[in-house]
Amino acid sequence: MDKAQILVASNRGPVTFSVADDGSLGFRRGGGGLVSGLSAVADSGAVDSLWVCAALSDADRKAAAAAPDGRLDQAGYGLDGSGVRMLDIPAATFDNAYTRVANSTLWFVHHMLYDTPNKPVFDADFRAQWADYRAYNAAFTEALMTGAAQSARVAVQDYHLALVPRMIRGRRPDLRIAHFSHTPWAPPEYFRMLPSDIGRELLEGMLGADHLGFLSRRWADAFLRCCEAFLHNEVNWDSRTVEFGGRIIRVGVHGLGADAEGLRERAAADDVAERRESLRASVGDRRLIVRVDRTELSKNIVRGLAAYRELLTTRPEWRGNVTHLAFAYPSRGDVPEYRAYTESVRTLAEEINREFGTADWTPLILAVNDDYPRSLAAYQLADVLLVNPIRDGMNLVAKEGPVLSAEGCALVLSTEAGAADDLGRDAILINPFDVSETAEALHRALSMDPAERAARCGRMAEAAASLPPELWFTDQLRSLG
Ligand code: F6P
Repeated sequence: MDKAQILVASNRGPVTFSVADDGSLGFRRGGGGLVSGLSAVADSGAVDSLWVCAALSDADRKAAAAAPDGRLDQAGYGLDGSGVRMLDIPAATFDNAYTRVANSTLWFVHHMLYDTPNKPVFDADFRAQWADYRAYNAAFTEALMTGAAQSARVAVQDYHLALVPRMIRGRRPDLRIAHFSHTPWAPPEYFRMLPSDIGRELLEGMLGADHLGFLSRRWADAFLRCCEAFLHNEVNWDSRTVEFGGRIIRVGVHGLGADAEGLRERAAADDVAERRESLRASVGDRRLIVRVDRTELSKNIVRGLAAYRELLTTRPEWRGNVTHLAFAYPSRGDVPEYRAYTESVRTLAEEINREFGTADWTPLILAVNDDYPRSLAAYQLADVLLVNPIRDGMNLVAKEGPVLSAEGCALVLSTEAGAADDLGRDAILINPFDVSETAEALHRALSMDPAERAARCGRMAEAAASLPPELWFTDQLRSLG
């Protein structure tokens, strides 16, 4: 088997398997920037590439076990030219690394989600989970080193794999390593909550890379400030580099937009048209406020619904004339806070419908399930798109919505989303904690002159399309020379 010249490592891979009733394996290719980015590079056929990810279900493990050399592409799963290797990480190790450390701790730190009188608690249990986080990072490191050709470029993704760059560096100094953070980065005042040895291990782990990438300058700045505060490393703010272990590490910003062409093509399919018709039939000609998220604490769904309630209270003229579609993909059900949050979203939605609903008007349609074509149909129909995260690395809904909007939607957007850097001029920006301001912004958005709305939406769509995933990914690779 040829060794790869370009490698990607991420917890979630580009393909998901399922077992049918007759025991046969089916698979579905995932979406997202990385998939289209690497596919574009792999499709060119110029280099061998390999994607290392974790097996996330029994079906994934079955597929991985059946693949010759552990490479799924060799088993006939068409993956656009790139090899895929799924790691079968022991369940207890995976649970500690992914659910406890990555999603219940690091995600909370970077999104500043803690309710601090109760959490976090760093005790002996946490230290044991941390040991598994290390083991999980070591498993990825092993697979990457085995699969990499001499001087290959390795693009490590996200907070799940913060220790990988340093682990690789110690054993394969020939490899050129990038690490990319898809999340915000916590400011030192919040990052310092982590035990100091663990905070240092994370920073030093990432500094094993040659290049560190972030989605927004704000997150890159926060990382540099953490290096200054906790490692006392030399940070050069002019060149935006950190000196560590006798090497100079560059810290870059790589913005990510929408795959406009791919989206438009997908949205032209029959299943999207069916969803569009059925949504239209259920809401009639009422105005539409749309939100699409994972059921994720950082997405701030509860305050968004509260703002809609305040809109209906303070601006009674909208009662009966607007419908709010809130579509949420189930996410991270293994984390208790996520289950509780989803429940609070449902409860508030029921309250709003009880308070304002009439025989022929349901003010809010909340659906918690996985229906991608329905989300695309909602983007096409939206008069207003509400994106109000507490903190968000980028937020692609804010970019995809305007691309697909049929008549031009207004965007109500949190200042705390990376997307505000690119769309702030044409969106209506809000403080995500300020429910009243959000309610007022919804009113402004609904009342906006259609010509102005279309013009703003057109500019946002253009900005979103100007940063396609291929560009974002090749930019990361280019930063490695
Ligand atoms: O964008 C941040 C991120 O954590 C990705 O790494 C991840 O694939 C996505 O959000 C969804 O989260 P999860 O993979 O835990 O469902």
